[in-house]
Amino acid sequence: QEGIFTFDPGFTSTASCKSAITYIDGENGVLLYRGYPIEQLAEQSSFLEVSYLLMYGELPSRETMESFKNSILYHTMINESLLRFFNGFHYDAHPMAMMTGVVGSLSAFYHDQNAMRDPNQRDVFAHRIIAKMPTIAAAAYKHSIGQPFMYPQNHLGYCSNLLHMFFSVPAEAYSPDPVAAEALDLLFILHADHEQNASTSTVRLAGSTGTNPYAAIASGITALWGPAHGGANEAVLDMLHEIGDVKNIPKYIEKAKDKNDPFRLMGFGHRVYKNYDPRAKIIREMCHKVLKRLGKENDPLLELAMELEHIALNDDYFVEKKLYPNVDFYSGIIYKALGIPVSMFTVMFAIARTVGWTAHWLEMVGDPAMRIGRPRQLYVGEGQRDYVPVDRR
Ligand code: SDX
Repeated sequence: QEGIFTFDPGFTSTASCKSAITYIDGENGVLLYRGYPIEQLAEQSSFLEVSYLLMYGELPSRETMESFKNSILYHTMINESLLRFFNGFHYDAHPMAMMTGVVGSLSAFYHDQNAMRDPNQRDVFAHRIIAKMPTIAAAAYKHSIGQPFMYPQNHLGYCSNLLHMFFSVPAEAYSPDPVAAEALDLLFILHADHEQNASTSTVRLAGSTGTNPYAAIASGITALWGPAHGGANEAVLDMLHEIGDVKNIPKYIEKAKDKNDPFRLMGFGHRVYKNYDPRAKIIREMCHKVLKRLGKENDPLLELAMELEHIALNDDYFVEKKLYPNVDFYSGIIYKALGIPVSMFTVMFAIARTVGWTAHWLEMVGDPAMRIGRPRQLYVGEGQRDYVPVDRR
């Protein structure tokens, strides 16, 4: 809209699509979900309320929220035969590999191809996929540790239910820690959507062909898995373990600057934010609070991360390249404090980002002017030339 956000006309010529869902100002570190600042939503909202906002464009009334929540709860269980897919995976299969396969297989159970045309079917798909992601994620985790799958308990909230499915076992009583559930809820709000990031663009491009929406979501999971994208939170922990001690930080800072060295400071830098990622600021504060409330404030990894951040933020190279901590820098430390294994960090990101992927899919298929995505390229290959028979090559 003119006057509020004055777009550079040239901007739209490079934009892959128009969207009204999320606005990012990379220079000033601004992130708005449907116009609401991420800081206010993080402070006052909940993940399910933000899910409704991102998908339908407005904050719900109390009654609307209640019926939305019930609709999500209605879909938390998965078809029992889906569980058999997990038996086909070795115990050491990466959870993101299992998620890609099992979420994609939902397209074999729900032929929501007509979800493209029928708004009610579109909502059923949206609520079903948001509801089932934690259940499928928990099944992947249980399979990887050889424990029995735990069914959802719908009297629990969205994040408490996830913790229950992850950590409870038939042999013992378990009640999800409200501190952990609250921390998860905030992390999910911060990871819910982020404009045309690689995985969201993948879902939009796949979805624009009219493919089954569950298959389109599976393509987003695949893209998110990469360490340059959602896989970074797992890579940050691996990096901190590799650095090992504060005294080793200068050596790794130099490696990150060396163009001939593939090492990069995971959790730093961003294609759009050339200032501090507003989500990182919120997560950084929350990290200290959560670790303190969990009695883990002396976590050596946190100390190492804080020192690494301090040194990097005062290093001319990183300042000049505008490389600041991004959303993934601290999230892994919190997931670890909550007892989530490193291999599941990107799965947690996928649970949250499923809301963004779904909101963008709904926006796209709801647009009567929708056309198949067809990015062009800049051709840098050979000019036209004639075929050369093999005996003259
Ligand atoms: C996410 O798109 C999104 O919105 C993604 C995301 C979302 O919510 O969906 O925000 C989530 O994916 C966050 C990013 C997580 N990834 C990481 O933390 C991995 C480490 N970071 C990088 O790999 C990198 O910063 C990227 C991939 C995030 C961005 O890469 P770009 O676009 O190449 O970065 P850039 O163009 O801004 O780089 C500028 C310069 C380059 O050097 P020169 O070619 O100019 O000499 O900085 C260098 C880069 O080589 N650089 C780094 C660096 N990141 C960029 N050098 C060292 N360490 C780094 N982390």
